[in-house]
Amino acid sequence: MYQIRLLPQELTFFVRDDETLLCAAHRAGVAFPHRCLVGACATCLCRKLSGEVAYQLAPMLTEKEQAAGWIFPCLAMARSDLVLLLE
Ligand code: FES
Repeated sequence: MYQIRLLPQELTFFVRDDETLLCAAHRAGVAFPHRCLVGACATCLCRKLSGEVAYQLAPMLTEKEQAAGWIFPCLAMARSDLVLLLE
């Protein structure tokens, strides 16, 4: 179980290591934008300011985008506590 801090909303919720960040957000009642749930629409796209995530399927993000912190919460699973920026 990892802790997610969501900015700038300053919300905190917890995620299991076998669920996506988006699932955890919805379970916690956090209104996280989404549409496709498969990493295709970019509606859920947000930036990881700190921490580590893993994907079961490689996300459609370039290495440069991933290096800049962009993640797809509908696919990403936490591998540490995270700080995310959702604008
Ligand atoms: S909900 Fe479409 S990319 Fe995440």
